[in-house]
Amino acid sequence: MAGKLRIAVFASHGGSNLQALIDGCVSGQIAGEIVLVISNNRKAYALERARIHQVETLVISDMEFDSETAFAQELLSQLAAHSIGLICLAGYMKKMPIDVIRAYRNRILNIHPALLPKFGGKGMYGIHVHEAVLAAGEKETGVTIHVVDEVYDNGRILAQRRVQVNPDDTPESLQQRVLEIEHQLYPETVAKIASGELRLE
Ligand code: GRF
Repeated sequence: MAGKLRIAVFASHGGSNLQALIDGCVSGQIAGEIVLVISNNRKAYALERARIHQVETLVISDMEFDSETAFAQELLSQLAAHSIGLICLAGYMKKMPIDVIRAYRNRILNIHPALLPKFGGKGMYGIHVHEAVLAAGEKETGVTIHVVDEVYDNGRILAQRRVQVNPDDTPESLQQRVLEIEHQLYPETVAKIASGELRLE
């Protein structure tokens, strides 16, 4: 792949996965650069992480627009203005508008804190995922990186890594161990895309 991959990250809260991606770019693990961070939440700590690394930030909330089309147009014009080649969702709590998914088909990734297709879909986010895993008595859970399409948590799975569930796990302890694996798997997967080893078609 010629030149550095230009990456936009969408994040709504803490942004620890954003941090892992920034670190991966800074260390050279990823032949890419995070050039834009977009959040719907102006209080997201992810925005602060971006600023610390001199990454441009934008707060764009769907609430400011009359329609999904207008929201999508704003996102599309910003993504085009920054020549974005890859979009990484990292704890982005809003549904990506369909027009953006169509325009960036196979170029939007998401990270999910479970082994999809299990424990995915609407309502399966944050601590709820880990609560559901424990309630189901699962022996293992994990992390999934997948392509985003029109259906929640549905697109092509690019990478998965397993995490063992311990008998004494709480949702919080499980979340913490899964998060540590997220911070490894997301940069590793984006690095493979940036180097051309993993193709998004
Ligand atoms: C992660 O668990 C991620 O898998 C999910 O949302 C969480 C975001 O955490 N989609 P952070 O904001 O990256 O710390």
